[in-house]
Amino acid sequence: MSDDAIESVLQETRSFPPPEAFAAEAHISSEDQYQQMWERAKDDPEGFWGELATENLDWFKEYDSVLEGAMPDTKWFVGGKLNVTHNCLDRHLTNWRKNKAAIIWEGEPGDTRVLRYQDLHREVCRFANVLKQFDIGPGDRVTLYMPMIPELAIAMLACARIGAVHSIIFGGFSADAVAERNNDAQAKLVVTADAGWRRGKELPLKAAVDASLEKSPTVEKVVVVRRTGLEVEMVPDRDYWWDDLMATASTECEATPLDSEHPLFILYTSGSTGKPKGVLHTTAGYLLGTTMTSRWVFDLKEDDTYWCTADIGWITGHSYIVYGPLANGATTVMYEGAPNYPDEGRFWNIVEKFGVNIFYTAPTAIRAFIKWGDDWPGQADLSSLRLLGTVGEPINPEAWMWYHRVIGGERCPIVDTWWQTETGGIMISPLPGVTVTKPGSCTRPLPGVVPDIVTKDGKSLEDNKGGLLVMRQPWPSMLRTLHGDHDRFLETYFSEIPGAYFAGDGARRDEDGCYWVMGRVDDVLNVAGHRLSTMEIESALVSHQNVAEAAVVGFPHDLKGEGICCFVTTTDGGESEELKAELIAHVRQQIGAIATPDQIRFAAAVPKTRSGKIMRRLLRDIAAGREEVGDTTTLEDYSVLSKLREEEE
Ligand code: WTA
Repeated sequence: MSDDAIESVLQETRSFPPPEAFAAEAHISSEDQYQQMWERAKDDPEGFWGELATENLDWFKEYDSVLEGAMPDTKWFVGGKLNVTHNCLDRHLTNWRKNKAAIIWEGEPGDTRVLRYQDLHREVCRFANVLKQFDIGPGDRVTLYMPMIPELAIAMLACARIGAVHSIIFGGFSADAVAERNNDAQAKLVVTADAGWRRGKELPLKAAVDASLEKSPTVEKVVVVRRTGLEVEMVPDRDYWWDDLMATASTECEATPLDSEHPLFILYTSGSTGKPKGVLHTTAGYLLGTTMTSRWVFDLKEDDTYWCTADIGWITGHSYIVYGPLANGATTVMYEGAPNYPDEGRFWNIVEKFGVNIFYTAPTAIRAFIKWGDDWPGQADLSSLRLLGTVGEPINPEAWMWYHRVIGGERCPIVDTWWQTETGGIMISPLPGVTVTKPGSCTRPLPGVVPDIVTKDGKSLEDNKGGLLVMRQPWPSMLRTLHGDHDRFLETYFSEIPGAYFAGDGARRDEDGCYWVMGRVDDVLNVAGHRLSTMEIESALVSHQNVAEAAVVGFPHDLKGEGICCFVTTTDGGESEELKAELIAHVRQQIGAIATPDQIRFAAAVPKTRSGKIMRRLLRDIAAGREEVGDTTTLEDYSVLSKLREEEE
């Protein structure tokens, strides 16, 4: 950003008020109600959140104060004791909900399982006892590297039940990435599966864990769920089958009363430097945030069947497949596999089969649905749907319109929810019974969220001026630190704009108070809704013996939102298609399939500023084809241009 403001080019004038019938039944159903809640939360956050915490959570011991400290170091509900799983499970067992479906699960091959609240409670107690048997206690870290099967939800809840801290690693990450996260978290135990299903193929998870353990010595035990039947090696006294352990485990396990600020989980996310950041969330604030936002934004009702298509390996799955919905006593659908297996109609079959009412997915998925054609959703009965949501990246207005028309039958409100791993829960989003939506805008802040748009000097900008999106006030579900690196936490989120939280997005606010997020302003790519650090991919490339230097940038990609373009300078000048393929495989091995480069371009040199910074803007232009370059090996010539540009800045 050389200028004060970021230029915004998107002009969108269509708007959609909530259907009257929807508004009449919604938890938050009028503009006045929203305004009152928002003003109250802003002026009296302690009163606002304190009342919600008392009314909506079960406490073993009442807290002494709602909020202590100011950003960045805040503590919520100090003195209180509670347990997340008591709130997600036990309290539903005292009434008719005990027989309600908590999780409706479908595996990729088509097998299904329904866990009622009392089933889930029983399994969680069992696995909590297994963990205890392995000497896992409060504060110990447990890595979960698993497919989307019920055992993943059971394992995370079992950790929460005894105060162990789960660190879930998405199954698309490589063994090296698992080792790095195990080491950073100093994990004692890993739960995995033999393999998971993905497009009919077995994704070998246990084998990756085996490879990771050569580099992560803190891990003592491995528990393996039998999922696909793939043959795996079991190391005596280290590896145990889930089934064997569960068969003898007691179904009784009291929920441990934990401090409000007891750590609940670590979730690694990409930052603009190489090492992944271990975002740490704690007990009471996170639970309250996800409980309330699930109810407000998804308007969860007792008889709803709710489906969030995310993977639990990402924050969306943590907050809106597991913790938020279960705390509300809702029925949450979980699907193991790919959206196009065995064909492109899979998601719509699931909607029809379970009568899904609320459907929450990502723009990258919506763009894939559009590409696959209207026939697929057209063949299924989607009339059960009443509300649609999106998350993960800005949604392009045309994708929004398609979602509204083809999936929503022009009757379902769409909630475009802006939030982050760090925020724990949804921050800016329509309320489906209140907000007039506009395609491409995540609209207005939820109660308790006080955003601002500022220049890089922290000056508030007027409406319709693009700038940095910051939060002026703390909220209960915000991250508390980066595991083991509080300095990096302060530096990353609170040093840019003193006194405010900043996590790297550019945005503008329009004259109606609606926010339009324009994407990241740091060196983080958003590939298919997943945050990847350019630095991490660059260091993966440079670790290959033939690579002298690498620069990675994003470029617009039809399906993935952003694609990954790698400029590579080789050690010996050698360039070949074989080397390209080798480098792509190398990055996959180092980070995982999600980081697969879309383009490798050989360059004689990477253009840099005099201070040695890669000229990313120039490379982005080249990657996007915005500049005529022809053969990219002539990139060297651009160093002249880059020097000129540097003078201008
Ligand atoms: C982007 C996912 C525009 C944004 C929950 C943010 C969005 C990053 C939206 C967080 C949205 C997420 N509109 N951009 N509705 N939702 N983003 O941590 O850049 O995986 O900073 O959390 O995704 O990604 P994360």
